Amino acid sequence: MNDTVKSASLAPANAPAGRTPYSDWLQTDLLHSLQHPVSDHPGEYAWIVSAQVSELYWMLIIREIQAAQAQLRADDLAGACRTLRRVVAHQEPLNATWRSIAWMTPVDLLAILSCVGPRYGKDTALQGWTFRQMVYLLGIKQGEHLQHFLPQPQRWQQLSTALAQPSLYDDVLAHLGRQSFAVPVTALDRDFGVPYTPDQAVEKVWREVYAAPDRHRELQQLGETLADIAEGFCAWKHLHLMATRRTFGARPAYFGTEGIAWLLPTMNEIPFPELWSARGFIGDAPAVCPHASRQQHAPGNGTT
Ligand code: HEM
Repeated sequence: MNDTVKSASLAPANAPAGRTPYSDWLQTDLLHSLQHPVSDHPGEYAWIVSAQVSELYWMLIIREIQAAQAQLRADDLAGACRTLRRVVAHQEPLNATWRSIAWMTPVDLLAILSCVGPRYGKDTALQGWTFRQMVYLLGIKQGEHLQHFLPQPQRWQQLSTALAQPSLYDDVLAHLGRQSFAVPVTALDRDFGVPYTPDQAVEKVWREVYAAPDRHRELQQLGETLADIAEGFCAWKHLHLMATRRTFGARPAYFGTEGIAWLLPTMNEIPFPELWSARGFIGDAPAVCPHASRQQHAPGNGTT
């Protein structure tokens, strides 16, 4: 192949001058124009990139969960499990974003934040819609957070819709119901916009799913994948809490009260509640042990 042919075959097919297929596809020029530090602190760029990467991963997780919900609604359990395994994978780099800002001391953080307020006004990450939509999809439905989106009517509407619609867990329960598990009607036919109330009957459903290792294998895989997702979510919250302790201490935050005191109760917001509470009796021997009756009737033990 001569040089003319070689360079012709490598020439971008559709990219206009000044761009390449790579930069067009991945929008690299746009992407790298989106970081605008407001302070002269050399670490602010790391903060912005770390937060923007988190934003991208939250959106990615939203899309995956929505895809898994569609698969569950079509009773495509294997497909839903595959999709949800990807969520577990995305949580790893998402949680690793904390490493990029782990070097921060309170002096570093305050040098940056003291310039953010005067430029943009009083901010809180509660004004971020991707995290809230992901949390709603995970089934933690707190309508009070919508107040932060009043200045963004389109996002307020989007989140109000997400609040009112079934979460991933609602779709899991509906799927279990269609598989003839005794999911109570009150768990299936309810106002999805209010916080979910855990139910002992649903605990029993999870116990039944896990009762025998060889039965309901795909459902057990679904349960374990949901447990992984819940763990990944709680790990993020733990890393966030520790970063807040390290860089902010017990200072008052957005609401004028101690930021840590606001965050601590949220650590108990663990998705898929009965999947966890049922573990208190999954694996226990049933009330009437089938082996006991077999022993009773075994030859030579004096019984008939
Ligand atoms: C390391 C410095 C950070 C501190 C001191 C901090 C502090 C806080 C505090 C005090 C809250 C409670 C609400 C408020 O008062 O604003 C909060 C909430 C939150 N922060 Fe941070 N934050 C930090 C970094 C980050 C980063 C890098 C992210 C991700 C981009 C983030 C995302 C969030 C989210 C999503 C919430 C809402 C949590 C929930 O609703 O459970 N924070 N943060």
